[in-house]
Amino acid sequence: MYYHFILLLLLFCSKAHSVCDVGINGYAADSSCGYSNKILIKGGTVVNAYSQELADVYVEDGLILAVKPNIMVGDDVTVLDATGKFVMPGGIDPHTHLAMEFMGTETIDDYFSGQAAALAGGTTMHIDFVIPVNGSLAEGFEAYVKKSKSSCMDYGFHMAITKWDDVVSKDMEIMVKEKGINSFKFFMAYKGSLMINDELLLEGFKKCKSLGALAMVHAENGDAVFEGQKRMVELGIMGPEGHALSRPPVLEGEATARAIHLARFVNTPLYVVHVMSRDAMEEIARARKSGQRVIGEPVVSGLILDDSSLWDPDFISAAKFVMSPPIRESGHGEALQQALSTGVLQLVGTDHCTFNSTQKALGIDDFRKIPNGVNGIEERMHLVWDAMVESGQISMTDYVRITSTECARIFNIYPKKGAILPGSDADIIILNPMSSFEISARSHHSRSDTNVYEGRKGKGKIEVTIAGGKIVWENGVLNVVPGSGKYIEMPSHSYLFTGIDKADEKYISSLKAPVKRSKVAT
Ligand code: URP
Ligand code: ZN
Ligand code: ZN
Repeated sequence: MYYHFILLLLLFCSKAHSVCDVGINGYAADSSCGYSNKILIKGGTVVNAYSQELADVYVEDGLILAVKPNIMVGDDVTVLDATGKFVMPGGIDPHTHLAMEFMGTETIDDYFSGQAAALAGGTTMHIDFVIPVNGSLAEGFEAYVKKSKSSCMDYGFHMAITKWDDVVSKDMEIMVKEKGINSFKFFMAYKGSLMINDELLLEGFKKCKSLGALAMVHAENGDAVFEGQKRMVELGIMGPEGHALSRPPVLEGEATARAIHLARFVNTPLYVVHVMSRDAMEEIARARKSGQRVIGEPVVSGLILDDSSLWDPDFISAAKFVMSPPIRESGHGEALQQALSTGVLQLVGTDHCTFNSTQKALGIDDFRKIPNGVNGIEERMHLVWDAMVESGQISMTDYVRITSTECARIFNIYPKKGAILPGSDADIIILNPMSSFEISARSHHSRSDTNVYEGRKGKGKIEVTIAGGKIVWENGVLNVVPGSGKYIEMPSHSYLFTGIDKADEKYISSLKAPVKRSKVAT
Protein backbone atom coordinates (compact mmCIF):
# COMPACT_ATOMS: atom_id res chain seq x y z
CA MET A 1 0.00 0.00 0.00
CA TYR A 2 2.70 2.44 1.11
CA TYR A 3 4.65 2.07 -2.14
CA HIS A 4 1.51 2.43 -4.23
CA PHE A 5 1.00 5.80 -2.58
CA ILE A 6 4.58 6.88 -3.32
CA LEU A 7 4.35 5.73 -6.92
CA LEU A 8 1.14 7.66 -7.52
CA LEU A 9 2.51 10.77 -5.83
CA LEU A 10 5.47 10.83 -8.16
CA LEU A 11 3.46 10.18 -11.31
CA PHE A 12 4.29 11.94 -14.62
CA CYS A 13 7.78 13.19 -13.90
CA SER A 14 10.41 10.43 -14.38
CA LYS A 15 14.05 11.34 -14.90
CA ALA A 16 16.27 10.33 -17.83
CA HIS A 17 19.17 8.18 -16.58
CA SER A 18 22.66 9.53 -17.29
CA VAL A 19 25.67 7.22 -17.57
CA CYS A 20 28.82 7.57 -15.41
CA ASP A 21 32.17 8.77 -16.83
CA VAL A 22 34.81 6.06 -17.05
CA GLY A 23 37.89 6.42 -14.83
CA ILE A 24 40.84 4.04 -14.41
CA ASN A 25 40.46 0.37 -15.46
CA GLY A 26 36.75 0.68 -16.27
CA TYR A 27 35.77 1.93 -12.79
CA ALA A 28 33.53 5.03 -12.53
CA ALA A 29 35.49 8.30 -12.24
CA ASP A 30 33.18 9.42 -9.44
CA SER A 31 31.74 6.67 -7.22
CA SER A 32 28.74 8.80 -6.19
CA CYS A 33 27.79 9.15 -9.87
CA GLY A 34 24.45 7.73 -10.88
CA TYR A 35 23.46 7.11 -7.28
CA SER A 36 19.76 7.01 -6.63
CA ASN A 37 17.95 5.06 -3.93
CA LYS A 38 14.94 4.70 -6.24
CA ILE A 39 15.11 2.70 -9.46
CA LEU A 40 12.45 1.56 -11.89
CA ILE A 41 13.28 -1.21 -14.36
CA LYS A 42 10.74 -0.87 -17.14
CA GLY A 43 9.42 -3.21 -19.79
CA GLY A 44 11.59 -6.29 -19.21
CA THR A 45 10.76 -9.96 -18.79
CA VAL A 46 11.14 -10.72 -15.10
CA VAL A 47 12.44 -14.26 -14.61
CA ASN A 48 12.30 -16.13 -11.32
CA ALA A 49 13.15 -19.79 -10.69
CA TYR A 50 9.63 -21.01 -11.33
CA SER A 51 7.93 -18.24 -13.36
CA GLN A 52 8.46 -15.47 -15.86
CA GLU A 53 6.29 -12.46 -16.74
CA LEU A 54 6.42 -9.10 -18.49
CA ALA A 55 6.62 -6.65 -15.58
CA ASP A 56 8.30 -3.55 -14.21
CA VAL A 57 10.38 -3.73 -11.04
CA TYR A 58 10.46 -0.87 -8.55
CA VAL A 59 13.37 -0.63 -6.09
CA GLU A 60 13.77 1.68 -3.15
CA ASP A 61 16.39 1.82 -0.37
CA GLY A 62 17.93 -1.51 -1.31
CA LEU A 63 14.72 -3.50 -1.50
CA ILE A 64 12.37 -4.58 -4.26
CA LEU A 65 9.03 -2.97 -3.47
CA ALA A 66 6.89 -3.85 -6.49
CA VAL A 67 6.88 -6.27 -9.42
CA LYS A 68 3.95 -5.65 -11.81
CA PRO A 69 3.15 -4.14 -15.20
CA ASN A 70 3.01 -0.39 -15.85
CA ILE A 71 4.46 1.08 -12.68
CA MET A 72 4.48 4.90 -12.90
CA VAL A 73 7.05 6.98 -11.01
CA GLY A 74 8.28 10.56 -10.51
CA ASP A 75 11.43 12.33 -11.60
CA ASP A 76 13.48 11.41 -8.55
CA VAL A 77 13.47 7.82 -9.79
CA THR A 78 16.18 6.45 -12.07
CA VAL A 79 14.50 4.61 -14.93
CA LEU A 80 16.19 1.73 -16.77
CA ASP A 81 14.63 0.51 -19.99
CA ALA A 82 14.71 -3.31 -20.13
CA THR A 83 12.54 -3.79 -23.21
CA GLY A 84 13.52 -7.04 -24.95
CA LYS A 85 15.78 -8.01 -22.03
CA PHE A 86 15.62 -10.39 -19.07
CA VAL A 87 15.45 -9.04 -15.53
CA MET A 88 16.71 -11.72 -13.15
CA PRO A 89 17.99 -12.19 -9.60
CA GLY A 90 21.70 -11.44 -9.30
CA GLY A 91 23.87 -14.55 -9.31
CA ILE A 92 24.90 -16.16 -6.04
CA ASP A 93 28.21 -17.99 -6.19
CA PRO A 94 28.26 -20.73 -3.54
CA HIS A 95 31.99 -21.41 -3.77
CA THR A 96 34.86 -18.88 -3.74
CA HIS A 97 38.27 -18.35 -2.15
CA LEU A 98 39.15 -14.66 -1.84
CA ALA A 99 42.40 -13.67 -0.07
CA MET A 100 42.95 -17.32 0.88
CA GLU A 101 46.39 -18.41 2.08
CA PHE A 102 47.04 -21.65 0.23
CA MET A 103 50.02 -23.67 -1.01
CA GLY A 104 52.58 -21.14 0.21
CA THR A 105 50.92 -18.07 -1.28
CA GLU A 106 47.66 -16.11 -1.19
CA THR A 107 44.96 -15.90 -3.87
CA ILE A 108 45.47 -12.76 -5.92
CA ASP A 109 41.84 -11.60 -5.70
CA ASP A 110 40.87 -10.16 -2.36
CA TYR A 111 37.40 -9.22 -1.17
CA PHE A 112 37.46 -6.01 -3.21
CA SER A 113 38.87 -7.16 -6.55
CA GLY A 114 37.09 -10.52 -6.46
CA GLN A 115 33.75 -8.92 -5.68
CA ALA A 116 34.20 -6.13 -8.23
CA ALA A 117 34.84 -8.84 -10.82
CA ALA A 118 31.74 -10.70 -9.62
CA LEU A 119 29.54 -7.63 -10.00
CA ALA A 120 30.84 -6.94 -13.51
CA GLY A 121 29.74 -10.48 -14.36
CA GLY A 122 26.29 -10.31 -12.76
CA THR A 123 26.99 -12.04 -9.45
CA THR A 124 25.73 -10.06 -6.46
CA MET A 125 26.52 -12.40 -3.57
CA HIS A 126 29.05 -15.15 -2.89
CA ILE A 127 29.84 -17.56 -0.09
CA ASP A 128 33.53 -17.78 0.74
CA PHE A 129 35.36 -20.46 2.71
CA VAL A 130 36.87 -19.42 6.04
CA ILE A 131 40.03 -21.45 6.62
CA PRO A 132 40.83 -21.98 10.32
CA VAL A 133 44.13 -20.61 11.63
CA ASN A 134 46.16 -23.55 12.98
CA GLY A 135 42.89 -25.44 13.24
CA SER A 136 41.20 -22.67 15.27
CA LEU A 137 37.75 -21.73 13.97
CA ALA A 138 37.54 -18.61 16.14
CA GLU A 139 40.87 -17.27 14.84
CA GLY A 140 39.93 -18.16 11.28
CA PHE A 141 36.65 -16.29 11.62
CA GLU A 142 38.39 -13.17 12.95
CA ALA A 143 40.94 -13.30 10.11
CA TYR A 144 38.15 -13.41 7.51
CA VAL A 145 36.22 -10.61 9.21
CA LYS A 146 39.36 -8.49 8.65
CA LYS A 147 39.88 -9.68 5.07
CA SER A 148 36.27 -8.88 4.18
CA LYS A 149 36.34 -5.27 5.37
CA SER A 150 37.02 -4.12 1.79
CA SER A 151 33.86 -5.83 0.48
CA CYS A 152 31.75 -4.09 -2.12
CA MET A 153 28.95 -6.67 -2.30
CA ASP A 154 27.10 -9.03 0.02
CA TYR A 155 28.79 -12.23 1.10
CA GLY A 156 28.48 -15.11 3.54
CA PHE A 157 30.89 -17.66 4.99
CA HIS A 158 31.25 -21.44 4.97
CA MET A 159 33.94 -22.78 7.28
CA ALA A 160 36.50 -25.55 6.78
CA ILE A 161 37.16 -28.10 9.54
CA THR A 162 40.79 -29.20 9.49
CA LYS A 163 41.23 -30.92 12.87
CA TRP A 164 39.03 -32.37 15.61
CA ASP A 165 38.89 -31.77 19.36
CA ASP A 166 36.44 -30.43 21.97
CA VAL A 167 37.32 -26.81 21.15
CA VAL A 168 36.55 -27.30 17.44
CA SER A 169 33.29 -29.02 18.35
CA LYS A 170 32.29 -26.15 20.68
CA ASP A 171 33.39 -23.52 18.15
CA MET A 172 31.22 -25.11 15.45
CA GLU A 173 28.28 -24.47 17.77
CA ILE A 174 29.32 -20.84 18.27
CA MET A 175 29.75 -20.34 14.51
CA VAL A 176 26.22 -21.62 13.87
CA LYS A 177 24.42 -20.05 16.81
CA GLU A 178 26.22 -16.69 16.97
CA LYS A 179 28.12 -16.03 13.74
CA GLY A 180 25.70 -16.87 10.96
CA ILE A 181 27.57 -19.87 9.48
CA ASN A 182 25.42 -22.87 8.50
CA SER A 183 27.85 -25.05 6.50
CA PHE A 184 31.20 -26.75 7.11
CA LYS A 185 33.61 -28.14 4.52
CA PHE A 186 35.69 -31.27 5.04
CA PHE A 187 38.67 -31.77 2.73
CA MET A 188 39.19 -35.45 1.86
CA ALA A 189 42.32 -34.42 -0.11
CA TYR A 190 45.40 -32.17 0.34
CA LYS A 191 47.27 -34.72 2.48
CA GLY A 192 49.56 -33.03 4.99
CA SER A 193 47.64 -29.74 5.03
CA LEU A 194 43.83 -29.53 4.96
CA MET A 195 43.00 -33.26 4.67
CA ILE A 196 40.99 -35.03 7.37
CA ASN A 197 40.42 -38.77 7.88
CA ASP A 198 37.19 -40.80 8.02
CA GLU A 199 37.07 -40.68 11.82
CA LEU A 200 37.02 -36.88 11.71
CA LEU A 201 34.54 -36.93 8.86
CA LEU A 202 32.16 -38.96 11.00
CA GLU A 203 32.58 -36.68 14.03
CA GLY A 204 32.07 -33.65 11.81
CA PHE A 205 28.96 -35.09 10.13
CA LYS A 206 27.43 -35.92 13.52
CA LYS A 207 28.12 -32.41 14.79
CA CYS A 208 26.73 -30.81 11.62
CA LYS A 209 23.55 -32.84 11.99
CA SER A 210 23.11 -31.84 15.64
CA LEU A 211 23.44 -28.16 14.67
CA GLY A 212 21.30 -28.27 11.52
CA ALA A 213 24.40 -27.24 9.53
CA LEU A 214 25.19 -28.59 6.08
CA ALA A 215 28.23 -30.87 5.73
CA MET A 216 30.24 -30.18 2.55
CA VAL A 217 33.01 -32.32 1.12
CA HIS A 218 35.95 -31.87 -1.23
CA ALA A 219 35.76 -35.44 -2.47
CA GLU A 220 39.07 -36.93 -3.61
CA ASN A 221 40.93 -39.81 -1.98
CA GLY A 222 43.92 -37.85 -0.62
CA ASP A 223 46.03 -40.94 0.21
CA ALA A 224 45.59 -42.30 -3.30
CA VAL A 225 46.35 -38.86 -4.80
CA PHE A 226 49.60 -38.89 -2.81
CA GLU A 227 50.40 -42.30 -4.27
CA GLY A 228 49.47 -41.06 -7.77
CA GLN A 229 51.84 -38.12 -7.38
CA LYS A 230 54.70 -40.45 -6.37
CA ARG A 231 53.96 -42.54 -9.46
CA MET A 232 54.26 -39.47 -11.72
CA VAL A 233 57.52 -38.38 -10.11
CA GLU A 234 58.95 -41.91 -10.59
CA LEU A 235 57.99 -41.67 -14.27
CA GLY A 236 59.73 -38.28 -14.54
CA ILE A 237 56.43 -36.47 -15.25
CA MET A 238 56.88 -33.18 -13.40
CA GLY A 239 54.81 -30.75 -15.54
CA PRO A 240 51.15 -29.64 -15.16
CA GLU A 241 49.88 -32.74 -17.02
CA GLY A 242 51.16 -34.75 -14.03
CA HIS A 243 48.50 -32.99 -11.94
CA ALA A 244 45.64 -34.50 -13.93
CA LEU A 245 47.35 -37.89 -14.31
CA SER A 246 48.01 -38.22 -10.56
CA ARG A 247 44.39 -37.72 -9.48
CA PRO A 248 42.11 -39.49 -12.01
CA PRO A 249 38.27 -39.47 -11.86
CA VAL A 250 38.16 -42.84 -10.07
CA LEU A 251 39.63 -41.16 -6.96
CA GLU A 252 36.93 -38.50 -7.05
CA GLY A 253 34.25 -41.14 -7.53
CA GLU A 254 35.57 -43.23 -4.62
CA ALA A 255 35.65 -40.30 -2.18
CA THR A 256 32.24 -39.06 -3.30
CA ALA A 257 30.75 -42.50 -2.69
CA ARG A 258 32.47 -42.79 0.71
CA ALA A 259 31.21 -39.38 1.86
CA ILE A 260 27.71 -40.24 0.63
CA HIS A 261 27.70 -43.56 2.48
CA LEU A 262 28.94 -41.98 5.71
CA ALA A 263 26.35 -39.19 5.45
CA ARG A 264 23.70 -41.85 4.94
CA PHE A 265 24.98 -43.76 7.99
CA VAL A 266 24.72 -40.55 10.08
CA ASN A 267 21.50 -39.52 8.29
CA THR A 268 22.56 -35.97 7.57
CA PRO A 269 22.32 -33.97 4.30
CA LEU A 270 25.49 -33.72 2.23
CA TYR A 271 26.76 -31.11 -0.24
CA VAL A 272 29.49 -32.24 -2.66
CA VAL A 273 31.49 -29.22 -3.85
CA HIS A 274 33.16 -28.92 -7.27
CA VAL A 275 31.82 -32.11 -8.88
CA MET A 276 34.27 -32.46 -11.77
CA SER A 277 33.73 -35.94 -13.15
CA ARG A 278 31.07 -38.25 -14.49
CA ASP A 279 32.23 -40.73 -11.83
CA ALA A 280 31.32 -38.40 -8.94
CA MET A 281 28.11 -37.26 -10.62
CA GLU A 282 26.92 -40.85 -11.03
CA GLU A 283 27.43 -41.53 -7.32
CA ILE A 284 25.29 -38.49 -6.53
CA ALA A 285 22.64 -39.58 -9.02
CA ARG A 286 22.48 -43.02 -7.40
CA ALA A 287 22.16 -41.58 -3.90
CA ARG A 288 19.46 -39.10 -4.89
CA LYS A 289 17.53 -41.83 -6.67
CA SER A 290 17.50 -43.80 -3.44
CA GLY A 291 16.04 -40.78 -1.64
CA GLN A 292 19.20 -39.52 0.05
CA ARG A 293 19.61 -35.75 0.46
CA VAL A 294 22.75 -35.07 -1.52
CA ILE A 295 23.42 -31.79 -3.29
CA GLY A 296 25.92 -31.73 -6.18
CA GLU A 297 27.69 -28.52 -7.19
CA PRO A 298 29.55 -28.51 -10.49
CA VAL A 299 31.72 -25.46 -11.14
CA VAL A 300 31.88 -23.51 -14.37
CA SER A 301 35.41 -24.71 -15.24
CA GLY A 302 34.24 -28.33 -15.02
CA LEU A 303 31.24 -27.64 -17.23
CA ILE A 304 33.03 -25.67 -19.94
CA LEU A 305 36.69 -26.68 -20.14
CA ASP A 306 38.57 -29.89 -20.82
CA ASP A 307 42.02 -31.00 -19.71
CA SER A 308 43.79 -30.59 -23.08
CA SER A 309 45.50 -27.31 -22.07
CA LEU A 310 47.37 -29.12 -19.29
CA TRP A 311 49.50 -30.62 -22.09
CA ASP A 312 50.36 -27.17 -23.52
CA PRO A 313 54.15 -26.95 -24.03
CA ASP A 314 54.17 -23.47 -22.47
CA PHE A 315 54.28 -23.91 -18.67
CA ILE A 316 52.06 -20.94 -17.68
CA SER A 317 49.52 -21.69 -20.42
CA ALA A 318 49.17 -25.15 -18.87
CA ALA A 319 49.60 -24.29 -15.17
CA LYS A 320 46.80 -21.74 -15.18
CA PHE A 321 44.37 -24.68 -15.62
CA VAL A 322 45.62 -26.56 -12.54
CA MET A 323 42.86 -26.98 -9.96
CA SER A 324 41.57 -29.83 -7.81
CA PRO A 325 39.81 -32.05 -8.57
CA PRO A 326 41.36 -31.59 -12.02
CA ILE A 327 39.54 -30.37 -15.09
CA ARG A 328 38.69 -33.65 -16.83
CA GLU A 329 39.03 -34.90 -20.37
CA SER A 330 36.35 -34.00 -22.87
CA GLY A 331 33.02 -35.76 -22.22
CA HIS A 332 32.85 -35.17 -18.46
CA GLY A 333 31.78 -31.50 -18.87
CA GLU A 334 28.98 -32.48 -21.24
CA ALA A 335 27.77 -35.15 -18.78
CA LEU A 336 27.81 -32.59 -15.96
CA GLN A 337 25.80 -30.12 -18.06
CA GLN A 338 23.26 -32.82 -18.77
CA ALA A 339 23.05 -33.70 -15.07
CA LEU A 340 22.39 -30.04 -14.27
CA SER A 341 19.69 -29.82 -16.88
CA THR A 342 17.89 -32.90 -15.51
CA GLY A 343 18.16 -31.94 -11.84
CA VAL A 344 20.73 -34.57 -10.84
CA LEU A 345 23.03 -31.65 -9.94
CA GLN A 346 21.45 -28.57 -8.42
CA LEU A 347 23.52 -25.39 -8.71
CA VAL A 348 26.66 -23.97 -10.30
CA GLY A 349 29.60 -22.45 -8.43
CA THR A 350 33.00 -21.24 -9.56
CA ASP A 351 35.61 -22.24 -6.95
CA HIS A 352 37.15 -18.86 -7.91
CA CYS A 353 40.67 -19.26 -6.51
CA THR A 354 43.04 -17.18 -8.62
CA PHE A 355 46.81 -17.13 -8.78
CA ASN A 356 48.80 -15.07 -11.26
CA SER A 357 51.61 -16.34 -13.49
CA THR A 358 54.30 -15.61 -10.92
CA GLN A 359 52.42 -17.60 -8.31
CA LYS A 360 51.71 -20.49 -10.70
CA ALA A 361 55.47 -20.52 -11.46
CA LEU A 362 56.10 -21.77 -7.89
CA GLY A 363 55.55 -25.17 -9.47
CA ILE A 364 57.71 -24.68 -12.56
CA ASP A 365 59.79 -27.80 -11.73
CA ASP A 366 57.15 -29.79 -9.87
CA PHE A 367 53.39 -29.88 -10.57
CA ARG A 368 52.75 -30.65 -6.87
CA LYS A 369 53.81 -27.09 -6.02
CA ILE A 370 51.58 -25.29 -8.57
CA PRO A 371 48.97 -23.40 -6.49
CA ASN A 372 45.63 -25.08 -7.25
CA GLY A 373 42.83 -22.87 -8.53
CA VAL A 374 41.26 -21.08 -11.49
CA ASN A 375 39.13 -17.96 -12.07
CA GLY A 376 35.39 -17.89 -12.75
CA ILE A 377 33.57 -15.43 -10.50
CA GLU A 378 33.22 -12.87 -13.33
CA GLU A 379 32.58 -15.41 -16.08
CA ARG A 380 30.10 -17.90 -14.56
CA MET A 381 26.84 -16.11 -15.39
CA HIS A 382 27.77 -15.45 -19.02
CA LEU A 383 29.23 -18.89 -19.68
CA VAL A 384 26.30 -20.78 -18.17
CA TRP A 385 23.83 -18.67 -20.15
CA ASP A 386 25.70 -19.22 -23.38
CA ALA A 387 26.44 -22.92 -22.89
CA MET A 388 23.09 -23.96 -21.48
CA VAL A 389 20.33 -21.45 -22.30
CA GLU A 390 21.56 -20.35 -25.73
CA SER A 391 22.13 -23.99 -26.65
CA GLY A 392 18.55 -24.82 -25.66
CA GLN A 393 19.50 -27.26 -22.87
CA ILE A 394 17.71 -25.35 -20.13
CA SER A 395 15.06 -22.64 -19.81
CA MET A 396 15.53 -19.11 -18.48
CA THR A 397 13.80 -20.12 -15.25
CA ASP A 398 16.18 -23.08 -14.87
CA TYR A 399 19.06 -20.64 -15.36
CA VAL A 400 17.84 -18.51 -12.45
CA ARG A 401 17.39 -21.62 -10.33
CA ILE A 402 20.91 -23.02 -10.86
CA THR A 403 22.78 -19.69 -10.70
CA SER A 404 20.91 -18.05 -7.82
CA THR A 405 17.70 -19.37 -6.26
CA GLU A 406 18.81 -22.88 -5.39
CA CYS A 407 21.87 -21.51 -3.62
CA ALA A 408 19.67 -19.16 -1.58
CA ARG A 409 17.36 -22.06 -0.65
CA ILE A 410 20.15 -24.46 0.30
CA PHE A 411 21.86 -21.87 2.49
CA ASN A 412 18.55 -20.69 3.96
CA ILE A 413 18.45 -17.08 2.79
CA TYR A 414 15.57 -17.36 0.30
CA PRO A 415 13.60 -15.20 -0.58
CA LYS A 416 15.75 -12.36 0.82
CA LYS A 417 18.19 -13.47 -1.88
CA GLY A 418 17.62 -15.38 -5.11
CA ALA A 419 14.26 -13.84 -6.09
CA ILE A 420 12.66 -10.83 -7.73
CA LEU A 421 9.76 -10.48 -5.32
CA PRO A 422 8.41 -7.59 -3.24
CA GLY A 423 10.50 -7.55 -0.05
CA SER A 424 13.57 -9.28 -1.54
CA ASP A 425 16.96 -7.55 -1.58
CA ALA A 426 17.39 -5.48 -4.74
CA ASP A 427 20.12 -7.68 -6.26
CA ILE A 428 19.16 -7.70 -9.93
CA ILE A 429 20.71 -8.20 -13.35
CA ILE A 430 19.51 -7.13 -16.78
CA LEU A 431 20.66 -9.51 -19.52
CA ASN A 432 20.38 -8.66 -23.18
CA PRO A 433 20.01 -11.95 -25.12
CA MET A 434 20.82 -10.23 -28.42
CA SER A 435 24.14 -8.82 -27.23
CA SER A 436 27.40 -10.76 -26.97
CA PHE A 437 30.39 -11.08 -24.63
CA GLU A 438 34.08 -11.80 -25.05
CA ILE A 439 36.41 -12.84 -22.24
CA SER A 440 40.00 -11.68 -21.88
CA ALA A 441 42.54 -11.01 -19.13
CA ARG A 442 43.00 -7.63 -20.82
CA SER A 443 39.49 -6.55 -19.90
CA HIS A 444 38.48 -8.67 -16.89
CA HIS A 445 38.36 -7.23 -13.36
CA SER A 446 40.27 -9.96 -11.54
CA ARG A 447 43.83 -9.04 -10.54
CA SER A 448 45.15 -12.11 -12.31
CA ASP A 449 47.18 -11.64 -15.50
CA THR A 450 45.61 -14.75 -17.04
CA ASN A 451 42.12 -16.10 -17.63
CA VAL A 452 41.29 -19.75 -18.28
CA TYR A 453 38.49 -18.62 -20.64
CA GLU A 454 40.74 -16.31 -22.68
CA GLY A 455 39.21 -15.52 -26.07
CA ARG A 456 35.83 -17.15 -25.42
CA LYS A 457 32.88 -15.40 -27.02
CA GLY A 458 29.20 -16.00 -26.59
CA LYS A 459 25.69 -14.64 -26.71
CA GLY A 460 23.82 -12.94 -23.87
CA LYS A 461 25.39 -9.96 -22.13
CA ILE A 462 24.73 -8.73 -18.61
CA GLU A 463 24.38 -5.02 -19.25
CA VAL A 464 23.34 -3.88 -15.78
CA THR A 465 24.00 -5.18 -12.27
CA ILE A 466 22.14 -3.73 -9.32
CA ALA A 467 23.45 -4.77 -5.90
CA GLY A 468 21.79 -3.69 -2.67
CA GLY A 469 19.61 -1.31 -4.66
CA LYS A 470 22.52 0.50 -6.33
CA ILE A 471 23.52 0.38 -10.00
CA VAL A 472 27.06 -0.96 -9.76
CA TRP A 473 27.64 -2.07 -13.36
CA GLU A 474 26.28 -0.39 -16.47
CA ASN A 475 27.61 0.16 -19.97
CA GLY A 476 30.93 -1.44 -19.07
CA VAL A 477 31.53 0.87 -16.10
CA LEU A 478 31.92 -0.42 -12.54
CA ASN A 479 30.77 1.84 -9.74
CA VAL A 480 31.77 0.16 -6.47
CA VAL A 481 32.85 1.36 -3.04
CA PRO A 482 35.10 -0.69 -0.70
CA GLY A 483 33.33 -1.37 2.58
CA SER A 484 29.83 -1.19 1.13
CA GLY A 485 29.21 -4.98 1.11
CA LYS A 486 27.27 -6.60 3.94
CA TYR A 487 27.90 -9.89 5.74
CA ILE A 488 24.82 -12.06 5.33
CA GLU A 489 24.11 -14.34 8.27
CA MET A 490 22.73 -17.71 7.20
CA PRO A 491 20.43 -19.51 9.65
CA SER A 492 20.72 -23.23 10.41
CA HIS A 493 18.13 -25.90 9.55
CA SER A 494 17.47 -25.25 5.87
CA TYR A 495 14.75 -27.21 4.09
CA LEU A 496 17.23 -30.08 3.72
CA PHE A 497 16.78 -30.86 7.43
CA THR A 498 13.00 -31.13 7.34
CA GLY A 499 11.95 -34.61 8.46
CA ILE A 500 15.43 -35.82 9.41
CA ASP A 501 14.28 -36.31 13.01
CA LYS A 502 11.28 -38.35 11.84
CA ALA A 503 13.53 -40.61 9.77
CA ASP A 504 15.71 -41.11 12.86
CA GLU A 505 12.69 -42.04 14.96
CA LYS A 506 11.56 -44.47 12.28
CA TYR A 507 15.00 -46.04 12.19
CA ILE A 508 15.18 -46.43 15.97
CA SER A 509 11.73 -48.01 16.15
CA SER A 510 12.61 -50.39 13.32
CA LEU A 511 15.52 -51.93 15.20
CA LYS A 512 13.54 -54.33 17.34
CA ALA A 513 16.37 -54.02 19.82
CA PRO A 514 17.64 -54.36 22.42
CA VAL A 515 16.13 -57.82 22.65
CA LYS A 516 15.10 -58.61 26.22
CA ARG A 517 16.69 -61.91 27.15
CA SER A 518 16.28 -63.83 30.34
CA LYS A 519 19.54 -64.76 31.97
CA VAL A 520 20.18 -68.46 31.61
CA ALA A 521 21.91 -70.10 34.56
CA THR A 522 25.12 -71.87 33.52
O1 URP B 1 41.92 -26.11 -6.86
C1 URP B 1 41.12 -25.70 -6.04
N1 URP B 1 39.92 -26.21 -6.02
N2 URP B 1 41.49 -24.74 -5.17
C2 URP B 1 40.71 -24.22 -4.11
C3 URP B 1 40.66 -25.11 -2.91
C4 URP B 1 39.58 -26.14 -3.04
O2 URP B 1 39.88 -27.32 -3.03
O3 URP B 1 38.41 -25.79 -3.15
ZN1 ZN C 1 37.97 -28.16 -2.67
ZN1 ZN D 1 37.19 -24.45 -3.46
